[in-house]
Amino acid sequence: MTETQFTPRVFSGIQPSGGLTLGNYLGAMKRFVTMQDEGSFETIYCMVDLHAITARLVPADELRHNTRELCAGFIAAGIDPEKSILFNQSQVPEHAQLAWIFNCVARMGWMGRMTQWKDKAGKNAEAASLGLFAYPALMAADILVYHATHVPVGEDQKQHLELTRDIAAKFNHDYEVEFFPVTEPVIEGAATRVMNLQDGTKKMSKSDPSDKTRINLTDDADAIAKKIRKAKTDPDPLPEAVAGLEGRPDARNLVNIYAALADITPQAVLDQHAGALFGHFKMALADLAVDKLAPISTEMSRLMAAPAEIDRILGRGAERAREITVPILQQTYDIVGMLRS
Ligand code: TRP
Repeated sequence: MTETQFTPRVFSGIQPSGGLTLGNYLGAMKRFVTMQDEGSFETIYCMVDLHAITARLVPADELRHNTRELCAGFIAAGIDPEKSILFNQSQVPEHAQLAWIFNCVARMGWMGRMTQWKDKAGKNAEAASLGLFAYPALMAADILVYHATHVPVGEDQKQHLELTRDIAAKFNHDYEVEFFPVTEPVIEGAATRVMNLQDGTKKMSKSDPSDKTRINLTDDADAIAKKIRKAKTDPDPLPEAVAGLEGRPDARNLVNIYAALADITPQAVLDQHAGALFGHFKMALADLAVDKLAPISTEMSRLMAAPAEIDRILGRGAERAREITVPILQQTYDIVGMLRS
């Protein structure tokens, strides 16, 4: 199948599970904005609320709040709802409809091998929801209902994207069509992964009990600066080369965060700061972080005070999404042999 028959189209999704951190921004959203602004792709970004209830049934008010907050985060980070299609999954019913077809394409064995399923279901798989098991088939539908060609995700989603390719390939093979594209993952390397500010060997997480370990996108300038000043480091000065960060996870994390925020390489950070002590470097990093992140939290609070504006943006995004998904689902149904009147 030639890739050229498909429009270059980016799709990605984030779960509205509450609590956006610097990790979400640097690991996902910032890249989504770059792809949007580059102009070589159509970009589609989704708040996957159907996925957000697979692990547990979240109280309705909490889910609504988290979905609006995620939308505010996307916009504050630079997603322009005119340039990109920005919407929540449940308002575009074709995702769930295609997911049903894919539930019948994917094999139990494939799903049972998903490491995220094994991790999340744990020892008590009997008590996990059927939705959690089927999660990757819905994710495949999210992507393929747009014929998306490129999917930016973190390393942890790689296996789900391979499954998406397997589902597309089996559907195409079994129905003897070349209908779904074989999607390319765009995986962010571990180098840009944002780690815990108090323990550089762990990933920064919204669920860590200590708030000092992370920067939330809702933190104001004071909180951002304070958390960086109090971040764990070591007594040695910054090295001259990246190799000198070996075995110094806390130091490496702060250098990586600086590099990502300033859009330069870690080596370029060291070229500017080699020999500096962390007390000094953290001041520079705090200034940079406040400069880049405080406007995001300000814009998020402005939007969160205007939920009707958010809902209107999501509604319009869903309408635009359906211009793509309705015909693709209809063609899928025709291929499968579902009658239409
Ligand atoms: N599973 C993804 C995650 O947890 C979220 C997601 C759902 C997604 N559907 C998607 C990501 C489609 C990319 C494309 O990060």
